[in-house]
Parts: sequence; structure tokens; C-alpha cells
Amino acid sequence: MKNVEIFDLYDLLMEQLRDLYDGEQQQLEILPKLDELADSFELEEIVEYHRKETIRQKDRLEKIFRLLKEEPEGESCDGIKGLIRETLKLARRCKNPEVRDASIITSLQHINHYEMAGYGTAIAYAKQLNRHDLAELLLETLREEKASDMGLSEIAENHINPDAKWSFIVEKAGKEKV
Ligand SMILES: [Fe+2]
Repeated sequence: MKNVEIFDLYDLLMEQLRDLYDGEQQQLEILPKLDELADSFELEEIVEYHRKETIRQKDRLEKIFRLLKEEPEGESCDGIKGLIRETLKLARRCKNPEVRDASIITSLQHINHYEMAGYGTAIAYAKQLNRHDLAELLLETLREEKASDMGLSEIAENHINPDAKWSFIVEKAGKEKV
């Protein structure tokens, strides 16, 4: 299935859908790990919510594949793979829990934006191919991704970033005393 040649917009839509499907699956593997790395209760809650939402989004894609009578597997999403690698690398380099939480939020937002681009593209292709039924389903997920991005911005600006800023000041003050 991998490296199937692409000839038309339908093929490109399939490529995009399989890419999104693999991306959602990869996130299901990484989210429990991020839950363990998260320090604040608010972030743990948001990661758990994100995990449940990702299951729904994966199911929605499976429904789309059933409607198209196509197989969901076959594409590995190197974009999400790279973003997940960056997420873990960055989180492990953060020495304060509050700063690590801020890093997890930005990483989740990077993933969100990558997905928004993918779902937006898939919607445009589905509409072009007169599959408005599929476009509707994809739009539900795009709306969720956008809402989740806004939720992450909100918790970052109101809770996590102020705490991370404080933790930096405490660290600096500690070093100055030595
Ligand atoms: Fe998603």
C-alpha cells in the first residue's frame, strides 16, 4: 500500500485521509506518555480530554473509509512522527515541571495546527469531488481541532505560562544565592 502512485484528486484525498488516520493513531500512543509527563491538574485533564477526542476522530475517519469502501491503513504520517519526536525531546530538556507543562502545550498546539491543515485540505478535496457527506464529517473534526487549540491557548495564557515564568524566577534566585 505504501508509495502508491497518485494520479488524481481522489488519490490525493485518500493519501491525505490515510495520513490523518495514522496521525491520530500515533497520538493515541503518545498521549498517555504526555499525561505522565504533565505536572498540573489542568494539563492532565486537557491531555485526557484530547485522548478521548482523538479516539472519536479516529472512529470518524474509519466511518469515512467505510463509506468510500477503502482501507484506512497504508500511510505513515512522517509529519506527526517528527512532531512527536520534537515533543518528547523538548519536554525532557525542561528541568522545571511548570516549564515542561508549557512545552507540552506548545507541542500539542503544533500537532493541532498540522492536523488543521490536513483536515482543511481533505475538506476542500472532498467538496471538489462532490462528497459533501465526507466534507461534513471532516468539518466536525476540524471544528474540534480548532476548539482544542483555543482551549490550549487559554490554559497556557491563564495558568501554565504565568507559572512557568515564576518557576524561572525562583530558579534564577536560587542560583544567585549560591
Ligand atoms: Fe486529532
